[in-house]
This record gives sequence, structure tokens and C-alpha cells, in this order.
Amino acid sequence: MTLKEFNLEGKTAIVTGAARGLGRSIALTLAEAGADVVAADISPQVLLSRDLSDSTQKLDQTCDEIRQLGRKSLAVFADVGQTEQVEEMVEAAVAEFGKVDILVNNAGVDLPKPLLLVDGKPPVPMRVPVQLDSGLTEEEWDTMININLNGFRRCAVAVGRHMIERRSGKIIGLGSVVGLRARANAAAYAASKAAVHRFTQALALEWGGFNINVNTIAPGPIVPTDSWWVPRWNVSREENDASIERIPARVPLGRAGDPREIGLLAVFLASDASNFMTGQVIALDGGSSLV
Ligand SMILES: NC(=O)c1ccc[n+]([C@@H]2O[C@H](COP(=O)([O-])OP(=O)(O)OC[C@H]3O[C@@H](n4cnc5c(N)ncnc54)[C@H](O)[C@@H]3O)[C@@H](O)[C@H]2O)c1
Repeated sequence: MTLKEFNLEGKTAIVTGAARGLGRSIALTLAEAGADVVAADISPQVLLSRDLSDSTQKLDQTCDEIRQLGRKSLAVFADVGQTEQVEEMVEAAVAEFGKVDILVNNAGVDLPKPLLLVDGKPPVPMRVPVQLDSGLTEEEWDTMININLNGFRRCAVAVGRHMIERRSGKIIGLGSVVGLRARANAAAYAASKAAVHRFTQALALEWGGFNINVNTIAPGPIVPTDSWWVPRWNVSREENDASIERIPARVPLGRAGDPREIGLLAVFLASDASNFMTGQVIALDGGSSLV
């Protein structure tokens, strides 16, 4: 690497939700920039019970690829919805690497659904047509808030204690353009991501004095990630693929983003290159939040 400020050699990062999608790409890109990476994800058993079985057992694959890049890696199963598991994740990282320099709070869930069905249908058509039995249930609302917002709080607090002691750290959240501009059929997701954005600012104010930078990436549509094919809501592969083909029309740059582009911004935010930046929510969205 030619620019020393971007070099992450000697740094340790925790990336949650690293088994697939953006988390996987962020973990690999940080490793490419020199970081050792603790790749964390929810255990396959819990995933199976939530019908997200397509993403199971990929964590080891992420870790193997990190090692192929010449960096150290540790796989940890941790549900960011469970405080105890998050604390154990951080303890495991410190035990293995002696410190944590970077937290990327990437794990998140999005269950697109209207708040209520009216005459058996969503009042605003869904982007992907699906058969729904009900509007968003309280349990589904709570899950999204608990994983997307409270999960960030749990990870930040567990890692923050350690970073405050060391007077050094980089915390990176994953928000969304949907947290900047709401979308129909995504009320809980939009609310959780808007809260992630404001939480980022509050945390930056509280921990700036300890030399801890807190920033959040707000991605627009990023493909391909495995998340575009999740066997839920009876969405067929064809309907899913058709919805992906419609993305360029709503993005000023005329295309979806690539997971690596999120990884590259994460490298900047994790590195000394961003030492004077904190409390920022950075849209990486091809301009889609402007339209
Ligand atoms: N893909 C996009 O276009 C996009 C756009 C905007 C924001 N985002 C945000 O980026 C992040 C990653 O998105 P993605 O598309 O890669 O999602 P994804 O569904 O493909 O991957 C999410 C990962 O998080 C893990 N995970 C889910 N619940 C967890 C939990 N409770 N504890 C630990 N791990 C858990 C999953 O197992 C999976 O590996 C999310 O926060 C998402 O909201 C994504």
C-alpha cells in the first residue's frame, strides 16, 4: 500500500454479520488493507429457525479467505441481539489479539412489509410482489429494532469499554439510505436505521474525548449480496431477479453498488486517513438518496 494513512497493518477489527453480503466484503477488504479480523455472525441454528438457512456456515469461508490474504482471523458465533454473546465476542477478540481497534457493526435485518393490510393488500404496492397474511407484527417490529439499533448499542458498549481504556478506536455503523429518506413497506427498518444515524452522532459526542471516532455508512442498493435471495415471503427467484433489474432506474449513477465499494469506505473510516472525521453518516448510494 502506498498511502501509509490507509494501512491497517497491526490493527484488529471485529466485523459483525461477516458470513455473507456486505459484512463479508468489509471483512475481506479490511484484511486486504492489513487488518486481522474477528468475523462474527449469528449461529447457524438460530438462522435456521429464522428461515435464513441460505447464509449458514459461510463464516469459516470468510475466515479462510482472510487467511489467504496473509492476515489472522477468528470466527465467532454471536447474536448481536444477545448482550451476553456480544460481551463474549469482544472477550474472545481481546483474548486472541490483545486488543480491538475497529468495530464494524454491520449485522442487520430487513423484513419488508406494510404496517397494515387494507382490504387484504398493502396500501402501497411492494417492490417485490408477495402474498402476505398480515401487516408487520409486533414481533417483527421488535426484531428489527433489536438487531439493527440495539445490536449496534450492545456492540459499541462492549467494545467501547475496551477502546476507552486504550484511548483509541474506530467504530463504524451500517445505516441505510432508507434511514435518510423513508420508504413505504419499510417503517421499522427506516426507523431503526434513522436511529442508527442519530446514535452515531450521540456516541461521537460522548466518546470523542477518548480518541474514538464513530461514523456510519448509509448504503443505497448494493448487489450482488446473498441477501437478495432470502427464502421468505414466498418471493420467487424470478421476482427477486426482476426487482434487481429495476434498481438502475432509480439510481442517478444508473447502477447498483458493489459490496467492495462499501469495504473501501470502511477501510477509510477504519484507518488514520479519517482521524479528523467523527459523527458522520456517509451515503454511498450512487445518488439514490437525492431522488
Ligand atoms: N445490501 C444492501 O443493499 C444494503 C443497503 C442498505 C443498508 N444495508 C445494511 O448493510 C448491512 C448488511 O446488509 P447485507 O445486505 O449484507 O445483509 P445480509 O442479510 O446479506 O447479511 C447480513 C448478515 O448479518 C447476519 N446477521 C443477521 N442477524 C444477526 C444477528 N442477530 N447477529 C449477528 N449476525 C446477524 C446474517 O447472518 C448475515 O450474515 C445491514 O445492516 C443492512 O441493513 C444493506
